[in-house]
Amino acid sequence: MTTPYVLVLYYSRNGSVSEMARQIARGIEQAGLEARLRTVPAISAECEAVAPSIPDEGALYASLDDLKHCSGLALGSPTRFGNMAAPLKYFLDGTSNLWLTGALVGKPAGVFTSTASLHGGQETTLMSMLLPLLHHGMLITGLPYSEQALLDTQGGGTPYGASHHSGPDGKRMLDQHEITLCRALGLRLAKTAILLENGRGQEA
Ligand SMILES: Cc1cc2nc3c(=O)[nH]c(=O)nc-3n(C[C@H](O)[C@H](O)[C@H](O)COP(=O)(O)O)c2cc1C
Repeated sequence: MTTPYVLVLYYSRNGSVSEMARQIARGIEQAGLEARLRTVPAISAECEAVAPSIPDEGALYASLDDLKHCSGLALGSPTRFGNMAAPLKYFLDGTSNLWLTGALVGKPAGVFTSTASLHGGQETTLMSMLLPLLHHGMLITGLPYSEQALLDTQGGGTPYGASHHSGPDGKRMLDQHEITLCRALGLRLAKTAILLENGRGQEA
């Protein structure tokens, strides 16, 4: 029996989504739960290319067991042509066994993304990430408008999930509203995970 944790599963090439993941982890930890940060390898046009099993830096690669045993999930990707990035989609396409066994049914999940342009597809990317999670039977926690930063932001932040605007050079740091909303998403996910775990404990 492992300690309960929320899995923060993401892909990031230039660091913006990684930074969002770290902020979401802080929100999760604020609720007293472990945040397990995991990434996925890039995919290559070379069919035979194999990534080293441990990345050179940053979070470890996610295993299916990380996903199977989580109490909740935060899923993050850069926006790529208004959609999630292929490496994350590739990982999700390998989760059929979890779907067949209903391993993720009833667990809370939220999503996050980063874009280079302000209206470059944050919402569509977030929605694209929600689709497989709904197929898995997960319970979606977006961000409520009781979060004042959602009304005040001049950058990222949506009711569908946390978002960030990295700018044309991809170097714009998370601003205070974006940080607040990342942490709020993590906190909300973790609190929901705790409530659901406690409910399951009472049923047993
Ligand atoms: C192939 C590709 C497609 C992209 N498509 C979009 C897009 O549709 N809209 C947008 O605003 N930014 C787009 N971007 C920019 C990234 O979403 C943005 O730089 C993001 O902040 C990268 O996150 P990362 O630093 O975590 O890798 C694209 C980048 C690449 C490489």
